[in-house]
Amino acid sequence: MPSLNDIRSTFLNYFDRNGHRIVESSPLVPRNDPTLMFANSGMVQFKNCFTGVEQRDYVRATSAQKCVRAGGKHNDLDNVGYTARHHTFFEMLGNFSFGDYFKSEAIPFAWELLTREFGIPKENLLVTVYHTDDEAADMWKKVAGLTDDRIIRIATDDNFWRMGPTGPCGPCTEIFFDHGDKIWGGPPGSADEDGDRFIEIWNLVFMQNEQHADGSLTPLPKQSIDTGMGLERIGALLQGKHDNYDTDLMRSLIEASAHATSTDPDGPGKMHHRVIADHLRSTSFLIADGVMPSNEGRGYVLRRIMRRAMRHANQLGTQDPVMHRLVPALVRQMGAAYPELSRAQALVEETLRLEETRFRQTLDRGLKLLDDELSKIPEGSDLPGTAAFKLYDTFGFPLDLTQDALREKGRAVDTEGFDAAMAEQKAKARASWSGSGETKDAAIWFDLAETHGATEFLGYDTETAEGQVLAVVAEGAEVAKATTGQSVQIILNQTPFYAESGGQVGDEGVLRTATGNARITDTKKSQGLFIHMAEVTEGEVATSQGATLTVDHARRAAIRANHSATHLLHEALRRALGDHVAQRGSLNAPDRLRFDFSHGQAVSAAELAQVEAEVNSYIRQNTPVDTRIMTPDDARALGAQALFGEKYGDEVRVVSMGALDGSGKGADGRTYSLELCGGTHVGRLGEIGLFVLLGDSASSAGVRRIEALTGEGALAYLKEQMGNLAEVSAVLKATPAELATRAKALLDDRRKLENEVAQLRRELAMGGSASGPEAKEINGIKLISQVLTGVSGKDLPGLIDEMKARLGSGAVVLIADTGAKPAVAAGVTADLTDRLSAVELVKAAAIALGGKGGGGRPDMAQAGGVDIGSADAAISAIESILEGK
Ligand code: SER
Repeated sequence: MPSLNDIRSTFLNYFDRNGHRIVESSPLVPRNDPTLMFANSGMVQFKNCFTGVEQRDYVRATSAQKCVRAGGKHNDLDNVGYTARHHTFFEMLGNFSFGDYFKSEAIPFAWELLTREFGIPKENLLVTVYHTDDEAADMWKKVAGLTDDRIIRIATDDNFWRMGPTGPCGPCTEIFFDHGDKIWGGPPGSADEDGDRFIEIWNLVFMQNEQHADGSLTPLPKQSIDTGMGLERIGALLQGKHDNYDTDLMRSLIEASAHATSTDPDGPGKMHHRVIADHLRSTSFLIADGVMPSNEGRGYVLRRIMRRAMRHANQLGTQDPVMHRLVPALVRQMGAAYPELSRAQALVEETLRLEETRFRQTLDRGLKLLDDELSKIPEGSDLPGTAAFKLYDTFGFPLDLTQDALREKGRAVDTEGFDAAMAEQKAKARASWSGSGETKDAAIWFDLAETHGATEFLGYDTETAEGQVLAVVAEGAEVAKATTGQSVQIILNQTPFYAESGGQVGDEGVLRTATGNARITDTKKSQGLFIHMAEVTEGEVATSQGATLTVDHARRAAIRANHSATHLLHEALRRALGDHVAQRGSLNAPDRLRFDFSHGQAVSAAELAQVEAEVNSYIRQNTPVDTRIMTPDDARALGAQALFGEKYGDEVRVVSMGALDGSGKGADGRTYSLELCGGTHVGRLGEIGLFVLLGDSASSAGVRRIEALTGEGALAYLKEQMGNLAEVSAVLKATPAELATRAKALLDDRRKLENEVAQLRRELAMGGSASGPEAKEINGIKLISQVLTGVSGKDLPGLIDEMKARLGSGAVVLIADTGAKPAVAAGVTADLTDRLSAVELVKAAAIALGGKGGGGRPDMAQAGGVDIGSADAAISAIESILEGK
């Protein structure tokens, strides 16, 4: 009996032999389709190949595609566990032709694979075709020899496949397996078609049209093929089972569930095991593809599935978390075909464990409330919406979980009442928000957020994605479209653009739609909406359009490097300076990073050097950066650095980087840096490249600020520094290593020369001779009075002292002709100061020079003047004073 793994390989190998490229499954979160929540068929990743927008280096492909149908248009969640063939996660096998072969080859391929490779008896097979598709009907007759009664013409959309409201589409032919009359049911198109006798196993779509938003249908550039066969269905058939959950793969998961809960796989808890087995697959694959449980969008769909599974595990009587213990069984079954699952095993286990641990804290109380509420209402009536809303709001029960729990009791929920309770809560939130003093401008974001819900951020995993334009806002009001030259704000349902927060600046990039382009100059956040600041550069951008969003990659890469380096810097500072170091602010821009932290004094050069070296050593370690979602309490218990006083939501993102070698005291004993952070980071630390500290300064009292560079910026900075050094080396004719000695020697020389110059000036001032100028004698007092050029005011006291020494006894008055304002100084030898004061002399001279007095001691005083032309008058004034003594 072939296993599901064997059947998948047989399918892919068959088409490989027939010239098809085996293409890996795309991730569950579609990158190229803003209207889809999850990949729900094999053709999703090839959508643009059919429409001719994208060319690949192959025209035939085959794949086993991971699909999730739980939310959005195709939603199987409610039925899982209760039916034989509903899944939230399944694999779709398919073969594709992009303008290469068409019906005449697709039908023979399918027939040969089913009847020869898989050995299905021809008598058990029948097909449907679109009612007008004679070509397909003829082909089935010719290739398979099917008689008319086994080629059923269907006129409904069942045989015209569309991927959604827009996109490639075309008539299809479906292949059915007849289980025989021991099972009830009629052929497709009959009144009893819903029975289980005739099971659809393969859908071959003849892609020939494109459906547009305005309802029109245009021909595709080339006719193409898209087929889809559920692996679980064909597996059940080839394994002789009627129920997909009896296949080897699903059975092994059911047994793992039974083992983990110590219950019988086929006992009263059978249905619970089926739900658990299915939900284990969807949740694990979603987490492996980057979806994390949250209260919005895809993350909320994941949470709903997780919690639904957890309630079923609880129904089996377990008290402890179960789901995470089943992951190894799933990885054993599917890890070889989907290596991303093996790689993410630890993350999947931890995410499931944390969610289940947390949900169990309210699950029992919620279930008790549910029972109490049910006991209050008459048998058979619906649970009031208010009770379902309380379960949702207080106990974290998604509506479908409550419905699922009630379904077992044959009861339902008053969903209108639930919606009304939800609307009332929103109205209250709005009322309290409008009283909170927010500006009027923000009102538009509040309204838009209420209408459209929060924007889903895809930018942790991708820098390019498609989104749907939900609103265009110009000057505070919603507009239908914006045209070239207009500056507007654009809201989309999802985006790879990071909106400014947590110190990280908003992304820039471009937005393109079928009718125009816009440059995104910044991205901001309000009320959960990502607001793209846009300048329309070409054509027009309108609401409801699909848009391709591309983040400026180089800029984002530089921001990422700076942000990750900030985390390393934070930890290195904490280790170097002490645990009191806490973040007080930060900036992560493309060209630099800035980090403010609490610390009372300047960081020494040695400490800075140590921090810089440590950050660089972790960059060179080049370990992967890891991101987990957990509760704030769990994160703190792990030792994550959080912003003190910051309010965190129900869950936080914990970013860890750097592996300790065992000697250090890591937050969890192993990890170097662990921080709560919503920003974007490098994949591996080596991407930071290089870290250069620019220095430390005071930011405010008790807060220091460090600025630093990374990557290209750091390198450019070092290059510039080296360039400067080379220039100086060339000028000084010394190697960089000799520069310091050389510069010191030059400074010494200069000091020596300066002294010599001063000495020479003094000599010059003294008339160029050692004996100095002649002294006059007035009233028995020797006086030297002279105007000097080439000296400054500050040279005067030294000269005065010198001349006083030479005179032995007397007075000296020197006026410096500096070219600008003159300076004057006077000196009186100690033996004469009781008769004559230098202050008196200098004042008289200064006044004569147009100045205002001066000051000093009786033996030495200085003053400034205005007019050197009055130097003679100044000297006369001095002589008069002496004459009067
Ligand atoms: N797209 C088609 C389907 O989903 C065939 O792959 O059924």
